[in-house]
Amino acid sequence: MAIQTPTTPMHHPNLVDGTRRHILDLDDFSPEEIELVMATTDAMGEVLGREIKKVPTLRGKVIVTLFYEASTRTRVSFEEAGKLLSADVINVSSSGSSVEKGESLLNTVRTLQATGADLIVVRHPHSGAPYFMARNLERTSVINGGDGWHAHPSQALLDLYTIRQHRGSISGAKVVIVGDILHSRVARSNLWGLTAAGAHVVLCAPPTLLPQEFLDGSYREDPDSSGLASVEVTFNVEEAIQDADVVMPLRLQLERQQAGLLPTLREYSKMYQVDERRLKLARPGALVLHPGPMNEGIEISPQVAHGAQSLIEEQVHNGVAVRMALLYLLVANKEGPPSTAQDTPSGELPRRIRFL
Ligand code: CP
Repeated sequence: MAIQTPTTPMHHPNLVDGTRRHILDLDDFSPEEIELVMATTDAMGEVLGREIKKVPTLRGKVIVTLFYEASTRTRVSFEEAGKLLSADVINVSSSGSSVEKGESLLNTVRTLQATGADLIVVRHPHSGAPYFMARNLERTSVINGGDGWHAHPSQALLDLYTIRQHRGSISGAKVVIVGDILHSRVARSNLWGLTAAGAHVVLCAPPTLLPQEFLDGSYREDPDSSGLASVEVTFNVEEAIQDADVVMPLRLQLERQQAGLLPTLREYSKMYQVDERRLKLARPGALVLHPGPMNEGIEISPQVAHGAQSLIEEQVHNGVAVRMALLYLLVANKEGPPSTAQDTPSGELPRRIRFL
């Protein structure tokens, strides 16, 4: 007679019970974790509305921002978030640090851990760099502040928060993401976050700016992307924007034109720019989001970028509260459960990075 070995369900580290140590993407976020981030952001928004915004929550904690690529919004808002929570925030960029002398990413982050960093926010041109860091740090948490074309989870969470703030709920909203999806880490993280929160996501781009999985439809069959099965894809921007609740044009990465992925910027704008005429096809009062930085006049017209439906500056404002929530949820709980092997991504990069 075969002996049955009792099996216990694998525990998935998460923010709800305080066992998550890193935020690397939203592909492993449950709807409950997203809701916890939203509710915690509400509380941080209340702090931001006070006359004296500083609270002692993270006093004695050390946050490092480690940026190997340019950034305005992400770096500044994480720095501000840490300071408003009374953490000590140290900014390191690749220029001016020992990275310039050839120090490896591994030695850099182990050095930062040895100095006592509780959390590192990293931006890196190579997809997967934050996963590599998380695998090699025992005491320091990692937040991915944007890695290559792969993921930008805090940006997606602030996008979700902005939608929720205006609509009351993300569930059921038709969200159209238009533009350079192939090279967009913001689009990838938003796909996971929006679908987990119950949005109906439509991707719209020229075929040369869409990942292969979305061109050939294979994302629907991939068990690793089962959460994305409801995503729709179209090349036609008018069809995409029809009845949309949220329209999110993406920055056209201008360097891509040299790679032959676009005929001319003029033609791209003519075919895909979110302008007033196209925005009229969306539901009345539809929200316009853009992760920034914008190329006004290319993927978005100046009238839409600065029009009554634009929430672009509000996204930046919400970014501070969302990042306060993320720092709080990861760092304030640090004395909680000890780290385990399950906390840390191991082995190969997740298959989902194949969407590159
Ligand atoms: N959206 C965003 O990541 O902007 P920054 O590059 O300015 O951080």
